[in-house]
Amino acid sequence: MPEPNTHSPRSPIGSLILIGAVVAAGAAAFAYTAGWLSPNRLTPVKVVDALAPPGGPALGHRRNHAKGICFTGEFQANGSGTAISSAAVFATGTYPVIGRFNLATPMADAADGSVRVRGLGLQIAGPGGQVWRTAMITAPIFAVSTPQGFYALLQASGSKDPNAMKAFIGGHPEFLTFVHWATTAPWTDSYAEDRFNSLDSFIFTNAAGQSSAVRWSFIPAAPPVSITPADLAKRGPDYLETEIADRVAKAPQTWTLAVTVANPGDPTSDPTKAWPADRRVVTVGQLVVQKVEPEADGPCRDLNFDPTVLPAGMATSDDPFPAARSAAYAVSYDRRTSEAADYPHSTTGAKP
Ligand code: HEM
Repeated sequence: MPEPNTHSPRSPIGSLILIGAVVAAGAAAFAYTAGWLSPNRLTPVKVVDALAPPGGPALGHRRNHAKGICFTGEFQANGSGTAISSAAVFATGTYPVIGRFNLATPMADAADGSVRVRGLGLQIAGPGGQVWRTAMITAPIFAVSTPQGFYALLQASGSKDPNAMKAFIGGHPEFLTFVHWATTAPWTDSYAEDRFNSLDSFIFTNAAGQSSAVRWSFIPAAPPVSITPADLAKRGPDYLETEIADRVAKAPQTWTLAVTVANPGDPTSDPTKAWPADRRVVTVGQLVVQKVEPEADGPCRDLNFDPTVLPAGMATSDDPFPAARSAAYAVSYDRRTSEAADYPHSTTGAKP
């Protein structure tokens, strides 16, 4: 004898309400993620929109550090880094590198003499797909303490209100330390002479499970030669790119990777706060730049130097910037790679 059906049949209206509720929950989740439910929340889209210069973004290009040139080379690890991190790229050996020298500006056609801060994007490919990406700048400290401060700076510098910058500085006095560096530190006449700093703090963990907070710098072998921005401007708008291409064509250029280890209590969540100069420094290897290539068809063009792409043995710290940067770089990457037809606007004199 068949079992009696004990389930009451679902009414069609009830089913529709259930389906509607599921669809509404999905839509609400998308709206939340997009920031529509909390218009004051800082989203990566807002930050990337705010980076655009008055004439609009340079289509096809990075939304910041838009002007740059690719290179390839290698990282020669001397093995000392294994004392602080189990990262595969620190085991004695030589690992392939793709990088990008760049200027910290959203203008893809900026003149080299007009941009105070220079950058270096780097990917070191360790064995077993253990990739390390980092993006560093020449400033010894960052301009603002928090990602929200970065957005406030973009808004103030793009504002028509003559008091906007004054008001911004009132709320972000740490910016004055950056301004002091920007207005007093010498400029160099070559990317090869620049020191590039992570500024953000990360956590390294060695094979014994011991963790340390660190920051790192790539220190150039080439001695710095100072130049005024006015004299740099006289050498031509793309001088830095042609110079580094010529220099590397004559001889590979090297940088030493120096990792600074924090003492307990050193500030790790704020890249405007430098650590005292006496901290332990571990010299872990050499970056060797062997070939410079124009960005248009170069190997760095479609790379996102996301600072949270880290091999095992490295992790982010309580510094809020890497996560915020990762989200903004992804928005920029999505936009620029969907605008391939617009790239590039300008050609440089760099030799292939
Ligand atoms: C909240 C703060 C920041 C925001 C919103 C931001 C935003 C961006 C964006 C949108 C890009 C273009 C990414 C791409 O399309 O691939 C970029 C590139 C870059 N940023 Fe940041 N950035 C921030 C902080 C920093 C800091 C603290 C540093 C260095 C210590 C830095 C160094 C660089 C460098 C070197 C590049 C160029 C990398 C490359 O060649 O692809 N940025 N940034």
